[in-house]
Amino acid sequence: MTPPRSPSPDPAGSAASPVDVTGSADQAARTRPLVVAVIGAGAIGGAVIEALERGDVPGARLGDVLRSRSTDEEITDAIEAADVVVEAGSVEAAEEFIPRVTAAGRDMVVCSCGVFARHSDPRDLLAGGSGAGRVLVPAGAIGGLDVLSAAARAGTDDALLRHYTIKSPAALDVDEQLTERREVFRGSAREAALAFPLTSNASVALALATLGLDRTEVVVVADPQVRRTRHVVEWVSPMGRYELQFENAVDPDSGGRTSAITAWSVAEVLSGLAAGAGPGVVVLGQDPGRGSRREAKDRPVTGRPVEARPPSP
Ligand SMILES: NC(=O)c1ccc[n+]([C@@H]2O[C@H](COP(=O)([O-])OP(=O)(O)OC[C@H]3O[C@@H](n4cnc5c(N)ncnc54)[C@H](O)[C@@H]3O)[C@@H](O)[C@H]2O)c1
Repeated sequence: MTPPRSPSPDPAGSAASPVDVTGSADQAARTRPLVVAVIGAGAIGGAVIEALERGDVPGARLGDVLRSRSTDEEITDAIEAADVVVEAGSVEAAEEFIPRVTAAGRDMVVCSCGVFARHSDPRDLLAGGSGAGRVLVPAGAIGGLDVLSAAARAGTDDALLRHYTIKSPAALDVDEQLTERREVFRGSAREAALAFPLTSNASVALALATLGLDRTEVVVVADPQVRRTRHVVEWVSPMGRYELQFENAVDPDSGGRTSAITAWSVAEVLSGLAAGAGPGVVVLGQDPGRGSRREAKDRPVTGRPVEARPPSP
């Protein structure tokens, strides 16, 4: 189904594009909907499933949903019936499913991308050989990977990248009763993913798109005042100086860990795959277009509510 990919030049984790660990997307626009199987129906998987069911992902439709209790036969059938599999379970689920799904020749969107910190070469987890599927890593809770990966492609020798993540102590599993913000971690993206496997996926996606897991610096801050997760990304290289800031509403079903935007980032990858183009590319022709979509107030109220409080100071 999927032709073999050319390898990324940097085995420490730098990838060819923001979303593709193994190479660039090369599918032509499809004539039938992309069938999507989803592993895990929690905060991210549940929202992706609802978006697919509502028809909010142009060119894609829901196939099977796999849960922890799914049998081996159900898993085999779901992968067989799918064009692409979304992993939204856990690092362990990613470790288990990436070899299996890619060996079956199916592409896989991996949300638990912290799994790649466990491997010196992120491609070690993927099945090899012609016809193997690819792994696509969504940007998740952050953005700007297009400009940062473009700058990295121009050269990484003199590049510096730092990612600050500011979350509530509870989201970071910091037990201590903090009264003011505190830096709880500073190190590489690989070390961050190993120390905070549930909350470092954005750092890993950023690292895979740019300097790799060992050259991307991550600072994790616990702040008892935050109600929304904050990310600040700083990049300096001969191409330019960029500072990107994000303040994300948190999915109430995630214990404060998961930004609601993550599921929509997965939806963007899926609609990009269906259109044969990467997320962030504006494709005119198949999608009815963002401006012509129904207004949110006209939609059935099946989506998950997101936090509507104003940003913390
Ligand atoms: N890429 C990103 O930016 C980003 C952002 C937030 C979270 N994540 C990661 O995405 C994953 C899902 O996050 P979430 O907030 O939806 O978690 P969640 O706990 O709300 O949901 C996970 C669901 O997956 C199920 N599950 C676990 N292992 C499974 C398996 N082997 N097979 C089938 N189902 C399985 C669980 O039972 C649960 O229902 C986590 O690993 C999380 O760290 C990634």
